[in-house]
Amino acid sequence: MSSATMKKAAAEAAMEWVIDGSIIGVGTGSTADFFIEALARNPMKIKGAVASSDSTAEKLRSAGIDVLDLNATGTLSLYVDGADEVNPRLELIKGGGGALTREKIVAAASTRFVCIADSSKQVDRLGEFPLPIEVLPMARSYVAREIVKIGGDPELRDRFTTDNGNVILDIYNMNLSDPTAVEQRINQLAGVVTCGLFALRPADILLVGRDGGEVEKTTRD
Ligand code: A5P
Repeated sequence: MSSATMKKAAAEAAMEWVIDGSIIGVGTGSTADFFIEALARNPMKIKGAVASSDSTAEKLRSAGIDVLDLNATGTLSLYVDGADEVNPRLELIKGGGGALTREKIVAAASTRFVCIADSSKQVDRLGEFPLPIEVLPMARSYVAREIVKIGGDPELRDRFTTDNGNVILDIYNMNLSDPTAVEQRINQLAGVVTCGLFALRPADILLVGRDGGEVEKTTRD
């Protein structure tokens, strides 16, 4: 079974958490795109959605779903998004698509975060996938030097600007055995908007599409 089929199965399973008439947060990436397709097909009507990127906003609008401003919605009942890596504690690395900051904001503003993924995203320990950090352009070199001091190998993402007008440093070989501590440490560096670790606010529910077509659900204790 292809990874696209597994992503689609996980995305469709997330519909179980969507409540009629609610406003939900929607993530970014190919798995989140399958979720938008599932929303568009479903006769149940949500009131609208908060998008975690310009590209998701565009896809939601094309699907006939109203895109709302997080400042006007208050706390969201649900956020659905993919991940680049997820560990057994449902801590994540995100930002492969560069939308990590808005994703983190929408996740933080949501009561429940349902993460949808194919089985390749599950790891025992985070860190095989390079950790993305969104950085203000003028702080790029300073932040890179600070990252080297704490053991990471930063690489500037080539010809990439985030929706917020910033750059991304992808960090290789970082020791992520204590994801919460690393998230706090990196986020404190001057010029860092945020890093792609979701450990302070992990997912609440993980839905993983598997090879045989079934979807495995894990709930965080
Ligand atoms: C976007 O910035 C990321 O956080 C995505 O959630 C992540 O890269 C997963 O992408 P796919 O669903 O395309 O695998």
